[in-house]
Amino acid sequence: MSSGPITSLPRHIAIVMDGNGRWAQRRRRPRVIGHRAGARAVDRTIDFCLERGIEVLTLFAFSSENWGRPRDEVDALMKLFMGALDREVGEMQRRGVRVRFIGERSRFSPPILERMQNAEKATEGNTRLTLVIAASYGGRQDIAAAARALAEDVAAGRLRPEQIDETAVGARVALADLPPPDLFIRTGGDTRVSNFLLWQLAYTELWFTDTLWPEFDAAILQQAVDDYARRERRYGLTSAQIAVQATETPSE
Ligand code: FPP
Repeated sequence: MSSGPITSLPRHIAIVMDGNGRWAQRRRRPRVIGHRAGARAVDRTIDFCLERGIEVLTLFAFSSENWGRPRDEVDALMKLFMGALDREVGEMQRRGVRVRFIGERSRFSPPILERMQNAEKATEGNTRLTLVIAASYGGRQDIAAAARALAEDVAAGRLRPEQIDETAVGARVALADLPPPDLFIRTGGDTRVSNFLLWQLAYTELWFTDTLWPEFDAAILQQAVDDYARRERRYGLTSAQIAVQATETPSE
């Protein structure tokens, strides 16, 4: 997994959108109202990425563990996803956004599954922004699936066990064909990764905010991007080595 050129604008932002439920509860409204407001924050975030030339935005919309939430909340979220898929695909197409999904999609109902496939197909030629929706996604499950794929390749004689290295694993996890996330953002005040992109976040800069997801906007995203620009990414090297690399790497 190459770190790519050193640049102060993140190419790939990955977000854990937390705090919808609390936002609604503080207003004495049902949690689903918070998720609906969260969908509007998703739109604002996509706008920001398009305006600023961010290449990839990965959003944690529904974790493998979220299936365990109360039935009515899961149903409401599925309805929300379905509505968003129906409404937004044309808009994504118009704006040059390629939509992709990662996660265990076999757990979704056929109507949702069909809409996910349609959205991917309809937008596959778009190049302005890749929007990755992590749905029924878990980082451990992602790594386990890569391990299973490796075992299958070994069993079929396509791979020798001694050929299994970081590159071989990295090629089989989600997002393998995209630049790794540069900036991870979590809203809602908790400072944990919660089984998101465990493999892919190895050298990602982490940024946390107490802001609840429905209140997330361009100003807060700008703070995160500015903070990212001030960080020094060393990938295990020293500051002096990074300074030399920066003079050797042609700027984009
Ligand atoms: C976490 O907040 C949020 C979710 C589990 C769902 C995220 C869904 C959206 C933002 C809706 C729209 C998304 C798309 C892609 C159209 P929480 O419910 O855990 O909040 P809490 O921690 O305050 O309870």
